Amino acid sequence: MSTINQFGKQGWTPERIKDLSDKTFVITGTTSGTGFEASRILLSKGAKVVMLNRNPKKATNTIAALKEKLGNAIDVTNITLDLGEQASVKKAAAELLEKVNRIDALICNGAIAQVPTQKISKDGWESQMAVNYFGHFTLQALLYPMINKSQGRIVTVGSMGYNMGIKAIKFDDLNWYKDYTANDAYSQSKLAQIMSIYELQDRLNKVGNTAVKAYACHPGSSRTNLISTSGSFMMKMIFGLMKMSPLTQPAEKGAYPELMCATEPDLDQTAFYGPTGRSNWVGPVGAHYLAPHAKDKVTAKRLWDMSEKATGVQWKF
Ligand SMILES: NC(=O)c1ccc[n+]([C@@H]2O[C@H](COP(=O)([O-])OP(=O)(O)OC[C@H]3O[C@@H](n4cnc5c(N)ncnc54)[C@H](OP(=O)(O)O)[C@@H]3O)[C@@H](O)[C@H]2O)c1
Repeated sequence: MSTINQFGKQGWTPERIKDLSDKTFVITGTTSGTGFEASRILLSKGAKVVMLNRNPKKATNTIAALKEKLGNAIDVTNITLDLGEQASVKKAAAELLEKVNRIDALICNGAIAQVPTQKISKDGWESQMAVNYFGHFTLQALLYPMINKSQGRIVTVGSMGYNMGIKAIKFDDLNWYKDYTANDAYSQSKLAQIMSIYELQDRLNKVGNTAVKAYACHPGSSRTNLISTSGSFMMKMIFGLMKMSPLTQPAEKGAYPELMCATEPDLDQTAFYGPTGRSNWVGPVGAHYLAPHAKDKVTAKRLWDMSEKATGVQWKF
């Protein structure tokens, strides 16, 4: 991949976003971090934002905080959705389809990370795989008809963690009954999220759908609540120290890649977007190297077929 950033030395920044008055964005996990910042910036450009959050009280506080910053006229609402429960995702998707008449971009941002012990979700999956991957897989499939009608986009917020675990999907022990580690399980969930985006692109191509776009990106290393929500005491200590170093950036900057993928015209879908500086943790936002295992076709197809079976949700292309 070329090291020349198509957006210049500073990389992509939200100044490039035009007026979004006629656009609707749906985003998961906006009570803090990159999701909050992405919502704030979209709203500041005139967009309608539908947030999908699991905690109604936190969602109400988030709306209040956004109104305090941007004024009462902003068009922001919340639908309750717990990514970790398929029934909740299905209910929220149905409610959303009743409430909006277009989706210009679905931003799959919400996540948990570095969960110290193996936890199994109501649906029978390891918790990070349940929330980060299966929750979003089902949400994307159920919202796809409206995204398609709107010629919209699906944006997945991945992580450089996709390249830090076993670099594979452990089909024979997806729940990590053997050898659970917080990092491997998080890494697998983020790898699955990224892989399914490139597989989605191929499936859209196969049916000749060039109107819907799918993008994979990540926020680098950003100062958010991620580790303090779900990580172990040790991880909280490590990330607490990291937050004081120049190897991390503010949450607002972490939101830029997902905002770019949701709004910028003429992006290359096959690329992977994030900070292009040190270790891809900080720096100007643009396209950068993606390790080949994230695009392994055999694994991606197997993952997709397994996911449709496991969730009972079929994509209707
Ligand atoms: N920060 C980083 O350095 C970093 C690095 C790599 C990737 N990422 C990715 O960036 C994205 C945003 O994370 P962040 O760093 O901004 O973390 P964050 O501040 O913890 O935000 C995560 C959001 O996801 C929500 N969420 C968690 N579990 C959920 C569930 N079951 N259902 C619905 N929403 C749920 C949280 O809601 P609650 O308030 O209810 O917990 C919160 O709003 C994630 O996809 C993460 O994997 C972050």
